[in-house]
Amino acid sequence: MEFQSVVLDDEKNAVIILDQTKLPLKQEYLKLTTVEQLWEAVRALRVRGAPAIGIAAAFGVYIALKQYNTQSREEFYNKFKKFRDYLESARPTAVNLFWALDAMERVITEYRGDNINELKSRLLAAAKDIARKDAEVCRKIGEHGLSLIRDCRGILTHCNAGALATARYGTALAPVYLGRENGCSFHVYVDETRPLLQGARLTAFELSRAGIDFTLICDNMAASVIKSGNVDAVLVGCDRVAINGDTANKIGTLGVAILAKHYNIPFYVCAPVSSIDPDTAAGADIVIEQRAPEEVTEAWYKNKMAPEGAAVFNPAFDVTDAELISAFITEKGIVYPPFEEGLKRIIGGSL
Ligand code: MRU
Repeated sequence: MEFQSVVLDDEKNAVIILDQTKLPLKQEYLKLTTVEQLWEAVRALRVRGAPAIGIAAAFGVYIALKQYNTQSREEFYNKFKKFRDYLESARPTAVNLFWALDAMERVITEYRGDNINELKSRLLAAAKDIARKDAEVCRKIGEHGLSLIRDCRGILTHCNAGALATARYGTALAPVYLGRENGCSFHVYVDETRPLLQGARLTAFELSRAGIDFTLICDNMAASVIKSGNVDAVLVGCDRVAINGDTANKIGTLGVAILAKHYNIPFYVCAPVSSIDPDTAAGADIVIEQRAPEEVTEAWYKNKMAPEGAAVFNPAFDVTDAELISAFITEKGIVYPPFEEGLKRIIGGSL
């Protein structure tokens, strides 16, 4: 991939992101130097995808704390908590944002003997580690996923769970990229993903750059494409997996899962362990982000495409019931039902 979604420029005290709202027309990088700019970038989906927003938040909080002048540990910690609460308010659903900031917080609370400069160095190392490990995690998800889809030809995916949403490879697209490295040739059906078009703008962009065969379809075409027999498996990412296996992902995922069940096609959720939330018992406990009505009525259109004042429902995510999911593909291996048991084991470190 010749692009990276998030990088740290420590010398310039900046988080550099590829502005995903400009894709596929322009590859424009933004230099974010304040937590306010980072908040706006997360909120506006300039940087998006659960792992990528976790990485961006870790880099952002490091940059902000690095420039905070104090020798008091208490003041330093209070400042961290202020930044943390603020950044977490940008998007509520993807648990990776909270997970990454938890990891940063542990650095401050665990190294009690360190002075502020030492803590700053440790925060830098922790943030870099989150980004480095994400690339490794995605590669592992790719390897495990490939073991399941090696003999498939048609793959359907929803939203963008590719390199743009992570440090590298992506989650749902990782098996496809690794398959290509290993001589497999998949044909990917890409749901356009209304209303923000992550499929059309981002997944199609990534796949065309990588030279992978794909066909872009409108979301409402998925049923007939699946019925036609051209899809052998569905691969999607996730934003938060409850411990019973219910999974929040981009709005529209639930419909695809119901279709896959109906037509007897495996429906795989590619899930870094960081997306599994041990504190969320079931899907009903997941907070679903609601977004502006204009994303439905006018984004991408030349003119407004709904009558003035039309009531709009615009949840950014839906929750797929665990029983519709064939398996979770994680970096530590594949989890089959019963999920609660398997997910708990995997979070605990064994499978
Ligand atoms: O609103 P978005 O574009 O951030 O939603 C992204 C998704 O739903 C992805 O499928 C999910 O974050 C996984 S990305 C590896």
